[in-house]
Amino acid sequence: MRNFEELFCVETAPMPAVVVIFGATGDLAQRKLFPALRNLHDRQLFNESSMIIACGRRPFTDESFRAVLGGDGDFLRHIKYCCGDNNDSGFYQKLKDMISAAESNCSDYVCNILFYLSLSPDDMLSVCSNLASNGMLQEENNGSWKHIVLEKPFGSDLESAQLLNCRLHELMNENQIYRIDHYLGKETVQNIMMLRFANVIFEPLWRSEYIQQVEITAAETLGVERRGKYYDRAGALRDMFQNHMLQLLALTAMEVPISFDADAVRDEKVKLLRSIRPFDLEKLDSQLVRGQYVAGNDLIGYRQEADVATDSVTETYVAAEIMIDNWRWRNVPFFLRSGKRLAHKKSEIAITFKAIPHSIFPGIAPEYMHHNVLTLQIFPTEGITLSLQAKKPGPKLCVGSMQLNFDYASLGKSGGDDAYERLLLDALLGDPTLFIRSDFIEESWKLLTPVLKKWAENVSAPEFYPAGSEGPEGGRKLIAPAVWRPLAVD
Ligand code: BG6
Repeated sequence: MRNFEELFCVETAPMPAVVVIFGATGDLAQRKLFPALRNLHDRQLFNESSMIIACGRRPFTDESFRAVLGGDGDFLRHIKYCCGDNNDSGFYQKLKDMISAAESNCSDYVCNILFYLSLSPDDMLSVCSNLASNGMLQEENNGSWKHIVLEKPFGSDLESAQLLNCRLHELMNENQIYRIDHYLGKETVQNIMMLRFANVIFEPLWRSEYIQQVEITAAETLGVERRGKYYDRAGALRDMFQNHMLQLLALTAMEVPISFDADAVRDEKVKLLRSIRPFDLEKLDSQLVRGQYVAGNDLIGYRQEADVATDSVTETYVAAEIMIDNWRWRNVPFFLRSGKRLAHKKSEIAITFKAIPHSIFPGIAPEYMHHNVLTLQIFPTEGITLSLQAKKPGPKLCVGSMQLNFDYASLGKSGGDDAYERLLLDALLGDPTLFIRSDFIEESWKLLTPVLKKWAENVSAPEFYPAGSEGPEGGRKLIAPAVWRPLAVD
């Protein structure tokens, strides 16, 4: 008999499905979606009867599209190419016929349909509305489902997000919508809930009585690459904060859900967002710092990037101090920072505990002792570290910091980027836990939209920082007298 742990370590294999990928020739589909589906197939987690219909404008045949994907083996057999313009109504009849043909593959089983929209935001709504008007989102009464996976961005402020949600709800039910945030598919991000809610030792300490501050970092070395057109309209607050950073914050700070059920978890996240203190627009600069990279370390500046305005005031870095107004987090600052073209790529959540209340060690005042820090590492190391004070070998009073380290690599994990694999598998299983519900989207925009408006009124440039540095000086002031954890990996 399998032991208890093994029992839960077996992935459930999904039922047959037709996966329709819009934007199949695009960057995301080629770099992430097809490799993820191929891996699922190789792990026997892609049903034998399932089919993938790749939609794109470029004139491929099934064979030539398969050749672009490359590789050989059984996986390619599951792929068909549907060539056409998704703004053209005739395209949907063709797609409908292809879906029906693929469904006949499912023989005795009911067949689920998953539409994955890897499209620009401008196309998202029109494709949904075409799918709906062609009856393609109508669910049958036989237990099968039709779901849509939507890539971010979900609106660009509160008003546009509400409008988008409202339009989508006219076309389908909320439980058919799977809004993706790839951070939620990362192993170490999923582990936050396990760590907090499958252990008894953290919960009593997870509160303002013991925690001094929390730091959440998502630093990148990359610039805007070929996404200047999108990014210059978005900026770091929309691109990273509204989604990934607030998700990390919610997972770290939320109350224990009543169960691991999708809605129970998502209810708690939304509740947490609702308890964030709104930014004080009169004192915004002391709570939020925006920066933009300029040339440095042999790298060009943001304004010299392709498709970026030469006088752009778009922020490529944001640091924020966030306060949560509830019992648990009274007076505990959450410092969040994210930026492009920083010195190192690093994502982590660091929880710094308070100093001991009294030192019994002669001559060693509590303030001289290092604080305990629990670090949930997301990138490049995937793991957990806990820094403790311990006696060093030698003289009786010799105290020093030591680290307890847990590295996911020690569990034989490859360290590969499998977030999309996790999320696609969950989407195929019809499990929305790691997807974002409409109310989270709206609450996050509620928090950030006043800031965006204020920034838009005040068109002064963000603070400049050299590409390849630790970010703007203002970021340092924001967290003072504390200091940010270094971006360099220890
Ligand atoms: C995306 C942003 O959502 O996340 C990108 O649009 C960013 O600008 C990326 O580079 C970061 O993801 P990761 O997994 O590399 O931290």
